[in-house]
Amino acid sequence: MSYKPTMSEPRPDAADLIAAAREAATRAYAPYSRFRVGAVAVADDGRIFAGVNVENAAYGSTMCAEATALAAAVSAGVRRIPVVAVACLDGEDCSPCGNCRQLMGEFGVQEVIVEDPAGGTRSLPLSALLPHAFGPGSLPS
Ligand code: THU
Repeated sequence: MSYKPTMSEPRPDAADLIAAAREAATRAYAPYSRFRVGAVAVADDGRIFAGVNVENAAYGSTMCAEATALAAAVSAGVRRIPVVAVACLDGEDCSPCGNCRQLMGEFGVQEVIVEDPAGGTRSLPLSALLPHAFGPGSLPS
């Protein structure tokens, strides 16, 4: 999936982004938790990067889906990521963990799209998920 931002269509449809995140989640490496998560990072140039959770026998070395999606985008040269969508296949609550919220803040994520357990999607502002954030602007220049 790709898109070009325009005034009339600022980003892909939320349901399409969640579908892409769900499709990515089928490739999650989650042998320990069996909780498969997928995420897509929507770059400011329109490219879309998928990620999955990648677990490890040393549990603390696990990487979240949001983190690997962001890393894929950044590795391709992206620095601004206005939107991230997250989906999980084995549960209903895919609200991003605290560490992922912080990672998103670094790259200017404004909107996090998750599935609504009641159906459809929910759009959550990162400012609500991570209030009073410490970010790049917090450091002296
Ligand atoms: N997980 C994510 O991928 N994203 C989150 O925001 C929360 C948790 C993963 C990490 C681990 O592989 C599994 O879900 C259970 O915590």
